[in-house]
Amino acid sequence: MTVSNGRQFLSIPGPTNVPDKVLQAMNRPAIDLYSGDMLGITASLLADLPKLFRTAGRCYIYAANGHGGWEGAFTNVLSRGDHVLILESGRFAIGWGEMAKLMGAEIEVLAQSGRKAVDPAAVEARLKADTKHTIKAVFVVQIDTATGVVNDLPAIRKAIDAAGHPALFMVDTVASLGTMPFEMDVWGIDVAMCGSQKGLMTPPGLAFVAAGPRAHDAHKTAGLRTFYWDWTFRDGPEHYQKYCGTPPEHLLFALRAAMDMLFAEGLENAFRRHALLAEATRRAVAKWAEGQVLAFNIIDPAQRADSVTNVLTNGVDPQIILDYCREKCGVVLGVGIGNLTGKAFRIAHMGHTNAPMVLGTLAAVEMSLKALKIPHGAGGVEAAIEYLASEVVA
Ligand SMILES: Cc1ncc(COP(=O)(O)O)c(C=O)c1O
Repeated sequence: MTVSNGRQFLSIPGPTNVPDKVLQAMNRPAIDLYSGDMLGITASLLADLPKLFRTAGRCYIYAANGHGGWEGAFTNVLSRGDHVLILESGRFAIGWGEMAKLMGAEIEVLAQSGRKAVDPAAVEARLKADTKHTIKAVFVVQIDTATGVVNDLPAIRKAIDAAGHPALFMVDTVASLGTMPFEMDVWGIDVAMCGSQKGLMTPPGLAFVAAGPRAHDAHKTAGLRTFYWDWTFRDGPEHYQKYCGTPPEHLLFALRAAMDMLFAEGLENAFRRHALLAEATRRAVAKWAEGQVLAFNIIDPAQRADSVTNVLTNGVDPQIILDYCREKCGVVLGVGIGNLTGKAFRIAHMGHTNAPMVLGTLAAVEMSLKALKIPHGAGGVEAAIEYLASEVVA
C-alpha cells in the first residue's frame, strides 16, 4: 500500500520546483530573435541579473548548466599554467578546479574535512606563504550542496586582504543565489557564477557569470579565452552576440517570470523565508538525531546552509529512507553525493518552496523512520511547527 498518489514533492537540491507561472511563461511560440520582445527580454535580464549578484559589474548569460558557468568564469580570466587555489568544502569547488586543470591551470587544493566550512585562517596562511604571488585565483563555493555547508565569504575576503594577496576571488553561487545574502561588490568578489535551476526557480540550462573590474583587467590577457564564453565578444553591439548564437528563448521567458516573482517577493523576504524553512528543518533533524542514528553532516550549527540540509545515516543505508519516501509518500529526497554517497540523504529547502512543502517533506521522513523502525527522537515535525509558529506570527 502507498499514499503517494497526489502531487509529488521534489525535495532535491536542484533542479528545484519550477513555479506554475514560470512554466506558463514558457508555453508560447518561439519568437523572432532579431527584434521586439526578445531584445527587450535580453535588455531587462542583463539589467536585473546584477541586482541579484549585487554588483555594478556586468553579467553574462550562457546556454549551459552550472559546469558551463564554471568554464565561462575561469576561461575569461586565466591562462594556461596559472596557479589556482581551490578552497575545499565538499565536492563542488573541487569539480570547478578539475575543470580548470584539464584546460591547463595548475590546481592546488586547500583541503578541508567534508564536515566544516573553509577556514579563513588557513586561507590567510597559505596566501601569506605565496610571497611571489604565483596564485592567480581562489575558487570557493558559497554553499556546497554535497556537504550542506555555507562558507563565510566576507571572512575569506578579509583573509585574502590580510595576506595582502592580489589573487582573483571567484565564487560559485549555484546553490545560494536567491536563497541568502550575496554581496559581490561589498565582499570584494571578482567573479561570481550561478545556474538557473536552484534558488532561481528556472529549469536547468542557463548559467550566469558576473564580472567585476579586476576580472575585466585579467580578461585582457587571459589565454584560456574561447569564442563561446568570451566576454569581449558578448559585449559586442549585436543581439546575437549576447548568446553567441540563437538565444535559449524559452529558458529566458522562464527566467524573466522567475525573477519577476523573486523581486515581487523581495530578495530580503526570500532570504528570510529560506532561513525560516531551513531552521524548521534543522529543528526536526535535531530531534531525530536524539535516536543516535541520524546526525547533521555539518558539525557547527553556524555553518549549516539555508538551502539544503545533509543528514548522515550512520550505519543505516539511506536508500531505504529515500525509497520509502518516494514510493510510499511521493516525496523525492536528495541522495548523498561525493564522500557522502551511501551515507547520507539531503533535504532541500530552496527556491519555490513554502511551509507545507517543507513540513510535508519532514513528515514523510519522520513517517519513514517510524515505518522502517530506525531509532530516532520523536517529535521532529512538531519541533519544526513550533519553531515556525513562534517566528511567523499572526
Ligand atoms: C554548488 C554547485 N555548483 C555547481 C554545480 C554544477 O551545476 P550543474 O549540475 O548545473 O552543472 C552544482 C550542481 O548541483 C552545485 O550544487
